[in-house]
Amino acid sequence: MICLGIESTAHTFGVGIMDGEEVLANETSMYKPSEGGIHPREAAEHHSKVCDEVMGNALREAEISREDIDLVAFSKGPGLPPCLRTGAVFARSLALSLDVPIVGVNHCIAHIEIGKLKTNAEDPVTLYVSGGNTQVIALSAGKYRVFGEVLDTPVGNALDKFGRKAGLDHPGGPKVEKLAAKGSNYIELPYSIKGMDMSFSGLMTEAMRKLDDEDLEDICYSLQETMFAMLTEAVERAMAHAGKDEVLLTGGVAANKRLQEMLDTMCSERDASFYTVPYELAGDNGAMMAWLGLLKYKTSEGDELEDTAFIQNWRTDDVEVVWDK
Ligand code: ATP
Ligand code: FE2
Repeated sequence: MICLGIESTAHTFGVGIMDGEEVLANETSMYKPSEGGIHPREAAEHHSKVCDEVMGNALREAEISREDIDLVAFSKGPGLPPCLRTGAVFARSLALSLDVPIVGVNHCIAHIEIGKLKTNAEDPVTLYVSGGNTQVIALSAGKYRVFGEVLDTPVGNALDKFGRKAGLDHPGGPKVEKLAAKGSNYIELPYSIKGMDMSFSGLMTEAMRKLDDEDLEDICYSLQETMFAMLTEAVERAMAHAGKDEVLLTGGVAANKRLQEMLDTMCSERDASFYTVPYELAGDNGAMMAWLGLLKYKTSEGDELEDTAFIQNWRTDDVEVVWDK
């Protein structure tokens, strides 16, 4: 069965095509704000401008035609309303014109399921870290439960904002990583974790303040060490609580080698397994929507058109994980 998946929750408009477990295509186009952070309406305008082109590229890459599509999946939430609306409208009109079923899927869960498909992880604690999200998630009693999350600025966003202040190009995350590798002096920064919930705003502001009188490489190093130690602590606690012995790292920040190393070390010490989602499937993309669409469709008939309205704050633990039984 061939499913075309559409991602449009934030910066990225993506179209992915899955034939069962095989990724046939995964094309994206990213909205880049001219300055400052994301402007939801501008991002949505970007998505509607590029949607036909991205879909055309995906069909070419997959070497299939529109008529070969059996199912349309799209990111129904959570995300920015104008962006979600654009994706939903595109998905609906495609499904209608092809006369195929449509399924709306949860963006956060799509990250987890494509990760499980592409690594050997079976029942992991997932650390989902991106520009817009920081969550520690594990399956428990039929739902993906959020064991811990950020209470203010998500990790990727904090790195990007710090980067902007430090005069680094957007996105700041990869640049901070490069500079951090050359730093070695640890500068004390606020370490703020309660149970499995984390706060990064104070830490980010303090790192910005240090820019006047400390070495940039040392600040980047200290910023990463502190943030990633907090994330590792939250994940380790979730593993103990939920009784899991696997960790799956995903989201755009999963590309960071130092974060991977810290989680890997923690896992080795607990005799647990550590998996990182391959780079091209870790950031926002359409293939993960297509895959979750296929999983969901196995146990349902697809959604009625009137049930395809987006859900801005769709919580991860609102979704019954029926396909995993
Ligand atoms: P979401 O909608 O899931 O929140 P997003 O729009 O933030 O996703 P992603 O591609 O998942 O998009 O993630 C982008 C984030 O990842 C940016 O904040 C970027 O700085 C960060 N990032 C990318 N590479 C690295 C890296 N090597 N180290 C740290 N952060 C990174
Ligand atoms: Fe995402």
